[in-house]
Amino acid sequence: MDVRQMKIKAAELALSYVENGMRLGIGTGSTAEEFVRLLAEKVADGFKVQGVPTSERTARLCLELGVPLMSLDELPELDLTVDGADELDRHLTLIKGGGGALLREKIVAAASSRVIVIADETKLVETLGAYPLPIEINGFGGVATRISIEKAAAKLGLSGTIGLRMSGDDLFMTDGGHYILDASFGRIPDAVALSQALHAIPGVVEHGLFIGMASLAVVAGSDGARVIEPVA
Ligand code: A5P
Repeated sequence: MDVRQMKIKAAELALSYVENGMRLGIGTGSTAEEFVRLLAEKVADGFKVQGVPTSERTARLCLELGVPLMSLDELPELDLTVDGADELDRHLTLIKGGGGALLREKIVAAASSRVIVIADETKLVETLGAYPLPIEINGFGGVATRISIEKAAAKLGLSGTIGLRMSGDDLFMTDGGHYILDASFGRIPDAVALSQALHAIPGVVEHGLFIGMASLAVVAGSDGARVIEPVA
């Protein structure tokens, strides 16, 4: 089974948690897109769902495939969100934002009663941080913000390259009109401390650590998909 097939397996199992009539947050990324494709097939068969997308990219795919959408303002409380992740650990702390949608993803997750993470097993790690942590920053004073992040990280014993994300020759811009710094710390032993330190920096809009938000994960390997509950 290749990685794409694993993503489909995870999406299939996650779909079994979606009930008729649910208010559903819909994630961003290649795994979430497999979920959207499967969901669209059910919708075409008469399944009712009200979707809230976590990015313009996801919104476009949903519209193309006929998944009904509403805005989060129209539907501010959601039953369930299904979304991907770049890394997850046994506590179901996540690194997200590889696709640049972390801010909307976090807002939608926070508005959801439950969040199911879907991933292939390559994303499951002992310690987060091999995947560079996306940090969404305001466009004003980006260099000063990066220096503040470096100093805050150093106090926690973290160091590494912090690079401004590009899209071809241009700076990558999020749906919210912000930029992204990708912080290659290598290991993040204390995600809570790093989260607090980043939130204390004025130019940081949001970061890609999702702590205590995921209710369960559906992780697929070559032997199929399994459900992982968070370890306390
Ligand atoms: C989008 O900003 C991310 O948070 C994605 O959920 C994450 O990058 C996973 O994407 P893939 O499913 O494409 O790996």
